Amino acid sequence: MGRMSAATPSSEPTARRVSARVGSISESATLAVDAKAKALKAAGRPVIGFGAGEPDFPTPDYIVEAAVEACKNPKYHRYTPAGGLPELKAAIAAKTLRDSGYEVDPSQVLVTNGGKQAIYEAFAAILDPGDEVIVPAPYWTTYPESIRLAGGVPVEVVADESTGYRVTVEQLEAARTERTKVVLFVSPSNPTGAVYSESETEAIGHWAVEHGLWVLTDEIYEHLVYGDVTSTSLPAVIPELRERCIVVNGVAKTYAMTGWRVGWIIGPKDVVKAATNLQSHATSNVANVSQVAALAAISGDLAAVAEMREAFDRRRRTIVRMLGEIDGVVCPEPEGAFYVYPSVKGLLGKEIRGRRPEDTVELAALILEEAEVAVVPGEAFGTPGYLRLSYALGDEDLVEGVSRLQKLLAEARD
Ligand SMILES: Cc1ncc(COP(=O)(O)O)c(C=O)c1O
Repeated sequence: MGRMSAATPSSEPTARRVSARVGSISESATLAVDAKAKALKAAGRPVIGFGAGEPDFPTPDYIVEAAVEACKNPKYHRYTPAGGLPELKAAIAAKTLRDSGYEVDPSQVLVTNGGKQAIYEAFAAILDPGDEVIVPAPYWTTYPESIRLAGGVPVEVVADESTGYRVTVEQLEAARTERTKVVLFVSPSNPTGAVYSESETEAIGHWAVEHGLWVLTDEIYEHLVYGDVTSTSLPAVIPELRERCIVVNGVAKTYAMTGWRVGWIIGPKDVVKAATNLQSHATSNVANVSQVAALAAISGDLAAVAEMREAFDRRRRTIVRMLGEIDGVVCPEPEGAFYVYPSVKGLLGKEIRGRRPEDTVELAALILEEAEVAVVPGEAFGTPGYLRLSYALGDEDLVEGVSRLQKLLAEARD
């Protein structure tokens, strides 16, 4: 045996086997909770999952049919340009004008493997080592990791339930330093469901323009808003921002298409070109057939999402009411997306079935074991003391799952 093959994985320190950059990334907590719940379910346990951020509906028929047709046509068995099918890029530009009132050229669009890749590539395209990104918390778990992977430094600004989980310009300003390059803006928000009003959105946009900051705005939940609430697109209302604004969006949440993996970036041409170059070496184009499906989705009307929104709205009201009935739980009513983010600080340290969970990681583990209900602890979103529950699951499961929580948590004692 030569020397090269002598080293075994166990004899070498992990720190030297995996790069520091990638070794520092933690597993996606939301996917981990979902995987654990699915594994328990597969083992025959009646687990109810509030973990995953995906609609329970099938993808609408007309979208699936477009994909089936594409599968039969050899034209769609090939590579597309790395940045996406030209007709899809044109349709994304048209959809952005229709839904946001923001006019862009197809050359400002890059089609990505879901919103996740869009976020990763956007940060990679604009951050240099040490650049700071202001990240309102609670934040979706992927943002800080993709910022760090790009060499950037996430700087958290926390908003709690007392302000509906929305940060103010004053808070953002207090976090700004000379290294700040970008501010992240997510409305409607994952994990809180918070939606910024038009005037709040404008105030943040004006502040960013005043200080020459970039904005990465994630609009993936744009169509999931309830009651009279509307979502506002930052570059539509603040045109001065367009030269330093990157929009992230995709079909996953609006059209129940999480598995198809189609998202996109809209931004200034130079940045989109740079991100396209990166993607051309990393993954090339998004699956051709998936692009055809996305084209059908965004070229159609919004009837399917209106139907899903109605179901989500009904579930939202049910879950807020039922969680509000539990002592120690404070559950603000979210205005968008499909998550609730209750504070459970009143339950920490109490005795439940012989255990005293001191943080929400421990509480979520106890809930999974004792009630067979999967929820995501607030630690995953930068704010311990909260749980995230997705209400994108069937009505019956939702009621059964929250009833189990009510029963278990009613046992909490000092
Ligand atoms: C706020 C937000 N942005 C982007 C995404 C990415 O979605 P996908 O990569 O499935 O398109 C998600 C998914 O959970 C999300 O919650």
